[in-house]
Amino acid sequence: MKPRELMAEAVKARRRAYAPYSRFPVGAALLTKDGRVYRGCNVENASYGLAVCAERSAVWQAVSDGVREFAAIAVTARDGRGAPPCGSCRQVLNEFSPNLWVYWRDARGRILKRRLSELLPMAFNLRQLRAR
Ligand code: THU
Repeated sequence: MKPRELMAEAVKARRRAYAPYSRFPVGAALLTKDGRVYRGCNVENASYGLAVCAERSAVWQAVSDGVREFAAIAVTARDGRGAPPCGSCRQVLNEFSPNLWVYWRDARGRILKRRLSELLPMAFNLRQLRAR
């Protein structure tokens, strides 16, 4: 699936965003290694700190469905707003697929593309926990 196609799924996911506080709706589409797509949107709360990002919503959906191997994720805010994934989401994505492709749009609408390992170098992971 091409970045543009996955991004179109992220745009669909954004329509479900619940973002009355920030007014910054975000959508994410997570492509699994076997070609399925899980969508996620940001879900905010009156207790502001409880907001969950679109990317993590998509990961929770996939993992809850028994899927843990991902090839790519596309993330989008509204037109004119760039939305590279936040640090917390990078860490969560790294748990399952450190080599993931990450696609997001810049403020001019261009799709940018990087490996997660480039966005989160020297990440903390299971290996550190197990090393002795
Ligand atoms: N947000 C995301 O959903 N993903 C990101 O990568 C950046 C931020 C959401 C969280 C919050 O609901 C709103 O955008 C403003 O920070």
